Amino acid sequence: MAAYPDDIIKKTLDFVKSSSVGEASGHDWWHIYRVHNMAVYLARKERAELFVVELAALLHDIDDWKFNAQGSCKAHAWLTQCGLPENIIQQIVEVIDTVSYKGAGEPNQATTIEAQVVQDADRLDAIGAIGIARTFAFGGSHGREIYNPHCPPLLHANFDAYKKNQSHTINHFYEKLLLLKDRLNTDTAKAMAAERHAFLETFLAEFFAEWNFNAGSETQK
Ligand code: ADP
Ligand code: NI
Repeated sequence: MAAYPDDIIKKTLDFVKSSSVGEASGHDWWHIYRVHNMAVYLARKERAELFVVELAALLHDIDDWKFNAQGSCKAHAWLTQCGLPENIIQQIVEVIDTVSYKGAGEPNQATTIEAQVVQDADRLDAIGAIGIARTFAFGGSHGREIYNPHCPPLLHANFDAYKKNQSHTINHFYEKLLLLKDRLNTDTAKAMAAERHAFLETFLAEFFAEWNFNAGSETQK
């Protein structure tokens, strides 16, 4: 690939930072910072094209469906403004468009190594201690209950059903987070996910041990 000036990465970083600082649902600047950092690490290990990976990682949530239903148009407009040729823009936009988790029943669309690396970096940030923190931040920012024993988790068959879901935050562990370790692409990410996945299980075991404490009272749950 032709050499592109480093300042495109730097400019993009500043642009994304200024658009995402203070976001309160776990998709804030520091999520982007961590995903970019992890994506660089995975790209080097997996020999993916670093320039495409870095720009896609930085821009991967700027047009997220939860915030913006129009597809990757902000990312496209930004990359055009940076003066990149259309074929490179298309590679980056394809990564962004295939990164997202769309429900248990939806197949993974990340086929290029660049898309797989960015998706793995995003998914590693969804599990472990940080994943747990982000999940409750999302739940709180959307007015959801922490847990409700009357509402069991669902394995959504398609993206529409997944998108409409409004249930409590503990369900998200069963509907997405615990499934991610088997939906990673690269061996490097799979190895890193093991400890983070185990931490989710430890957290849930402790959560339910505390939840199920029973002093013998007759109060109806
Ligand atoms: P992706 O990065 O695959 O597009 P999302 O942006 O949907 O995934 O989700 C990123 C993170 O936001 C999740 O890993 C989780 O922490 C939080 N999140 C998304 N949807 C929910 C939900 N329904 N309940 C709780 N947390 C959620
Ligand atoms: Ni993300």
